[in-house]
Amino acid sequence: MDGDVMQEKTAVITGSTGGIGKEIARGLAMRGASVILVGLDPVEGRQAMTELRRDAGHDRIEALVADVTTLDGLAKLASQIAERTDQLDVLVNNVGVNPPARQLTADGVEKTFAAHVLAPFTLTRLLLPQLRQAGSARIVNVTGGIPGGPIERDNLQAEKRFMGWTFSQYNHTKTMTMAMTHRLATELSGTGVCVNVVYPGHGYTPMNRSTSIKAFPKLYRPIAPLVLKVIAPLFLADLARSARPSVYLASSPEVEGITGAYFDSSCRHRPWPASVLDPRNRNAVWDLCTSLSPQSVGGKA
Ligand SMILES: NC(=O)c1ccc[n+]([C@@H]2O[C@H](COP(=O)([O-])OP(=O)(O)OC[C@H]3O[C@@H](n4cnc5c(N)ncnc54)[C@H](OP(=O)(O)O)[C@@H]3O)[C@@H](O)[C@H]2O)c1
Repeated sequence: MDGDVMQEKTAVITGSTGGIGKEIARGLAMRGASVILVGLDPVEGRQAMTELRRDAGHDRIEALVADVTTLDGLAKLASQIAERTDQLDVLVNNVGVNPPARQLTADGVEKTFAAHVLAPFTLTRLLLPQLRQAGSARIVNVTGGIPGGPIERDNLQAEKRFMGWTFSQYNHTKTMTMAMTHRLATELSGTGVCVNVVYPGHGYTPMNRSTSIKAFPKLYRPIAPLVLKVIAPLFLADLARSARPSVYLASSPEVEGITGAYFDSSCRHRPWPASVLDPRNRNAVWDLCTSLSPQSVGGKA
């Protein structure tokens, strides 16, 4: 373990009462960080808090309940965090959702866009005072699936299609996570807040245990049962390994000051896909986030 590199630091990880997020939280807590867990179920939250306190050997771990796919949930989460700390060193936007069909949130936002793009955008804005206060804060936005395909500017919320032969809105929004982050890094320049994207390792988690075959692009559906029922449980079980790239980006001195970058599941710095490098795509994603986030959410970002 990298000693106590996270002593005196506070980290928030969304979706961290289970799955890969809980292992990211464990990794940071074991490096000495005070950790705020976020999940939907209060019972799961209490259990995760107890488990991580025991493993980390300190009690600076708390669990909050919030649905990060809604603006109300994000606002309540941010105010609960603000009540607890003036300084936030690490924010890991880890929540992922993979519904089999287009769903809207209570705000009328397409759900995967809300979880993967609007939530990290809004939470960053809401927590910017605490992040700036840290002096050198790190935001880690988690991608997934098969990111890097085209960004369909006329279909950002899957208004025209949610699923195709090789297209899925899950993968589409995970590419948009990258586009939003690339722009966010520019917007945050000079604030002392770094933001990067990471691809975690795979893991056999609540999300993929509950993934429907209909959530796979049509081309991959014939092999989906094999992936979900056989390969995932056999080979994808090491969640600590899946969490490693996010823990690395959030805590390692090697990446101090790096911002606007993409790291793969082996912690290697990788080039952005062409669709992310197209400024028209980045601007379209950014403008949509800006229009959907409440006006009251200010700040440079
Ligand atoms: N699993 C993989 O193989 C894999 C591969 C590549 C990328 N990823 C990405 O890695 C991230 C984590 O994946 P995972 O498989 O660990 O996910 P997961 O199994 O869905 O994570 C479960 C955690 O997320 C919480 N959660 C779910 N929806 C939430 C919401 N709306 N608001 C707040 N918390 C919520 C759960 O809380 P409750 O228990 O209370 O519901 C639980 O703490 C995602 O972004 C995913 O896309 C995963």
